Amino acid sequence: MLILGIESSCDETGVALVESAPTGVPVLRAHALYSQIEMHQAYGGVVPELASRDHIRRVLPLTDEVLLAAGVRLGDVDVVAFTRGPGLAGALLVGAGVACALGAALDRPVLGVHHLEGHLLSPFLSADPPEFSFVALLVSGGHTQLMRVDGVGRYQILGETIDDAAGEAFDKSAKLMGLGYPGGPALSKLAAQGNPAAFKLPRPLLHSGNLDFSFAGLKTAVMTQARKLAAAHVVPVEALPLEVLADLAASTQAAIVEVLLKKSLSALKETGLNRLVVAGGVGANRELRAQLDAACARQGVRVHYPELHLCTDNGAMIAMAAAMRLQAGVQQANRAYAFDVKPRWPLDALNMN
Ligand code: KG4
Ligand code: ZN
Repeated sequence: MLILGIESSCDETGVALVESAPTGVPVLRAHALYSQIEMHQAYGGVVPELASRDHIRRVLPLTDEVLLAAGVRLGDVDVVAFTRGPGLAGALLVGAGVACALGAALDRPVLGVHHLEGHLLSPFLSADPPEFSFVALLVSGGHTQLMRVDGVGRYQILGETIDDAAGEAFDKSAKLMGLGYPGGPALSKLAAQGNPAAFKLPRPLLHSGNLDFSFAGLKTAVMTQARKLAAAHVVPVEALPLEVLADLAASTQAAIVEVLLKKSLSALKETGLNRLVVAGGVGANRELRAQLDAACARQGVRVHYPELHLCTDNGAMIAMAAAMRLQAGVQQANRAYAFDVKPRWPLDALNMN
């Protein structure tokens, strides 16, 4: 069965084709991605209306590119999947509208996918796919959650952020350091040249005794530290010497990574599971990966990540989530082409039980 997946929840248009059989892990046949980052950079963040308009421009050429790369025709597609939420309403409507129009024109069923389930299941696209059950650390731009995952559609949230997400902490700290948008990759690149112990920053909720996170206070502490440094050097924050900014970036990253690491280890201990899946954009962070790898190796825990290029938003994870939902029998594709989108949509609303 060939599943076409369309992702358009934020600032990346992704299209992919996944092939699945009744059993076995579905296989990625081809995928194509267009990132709008450059367009939004001028504004320091995503402009929703521009995002929607650009998705409209990109989605069909990307679909053609994927079909060509896989050597199949549009008529060979069996199911059209799309991101139904969460995300920007207008951006989601583009993917949903195009998917349902394609479905109607081809007389093929359609299926709406949860964006975070896409991230969560994206490590199944890697050469070394995980097995259920596992603890998942889902760290994207808008979400930070620890979950117990017992199968497709069987998600128990163990803890989550009570304010900002880890990705937001990276992005907002980077922005105030003048590193632009998206801040995560830029901040982590700069951090590689800095001293992570240079500044003492808070590790919010580290000893809270539960698995919740909070990153808003850290962002404020980074801002306070940056302002102090700027005053001492008599320059704006962005004009601080590179080695000072690198130290601040490294200290910020160290605080975020330590909290994510310790809480993930606590979740493993609490559940008694010995498998960890890390997904979402922040999962691309090298320091996070290095520290998780080392700690998990010491404790006999297997860690799985999506391939680096599939950590951030893409169509492959949407086609894959659709394929796995169909295979597990937890959702049917249907020919009801009237669609809706869910800009806000908690992941555990998908639970079967
Ligand atoms: O999963 P994603 O692509 O989009 C959402 O669904 O939100 O995640 C984007 C987030 C952004 O906050 C971005 O700064 C962060 O992931 N990110 C990183 C890295 N690459 C992306 N954060 C830290 N280090 C990275 N290497
Ligand atoms: Zn995402």
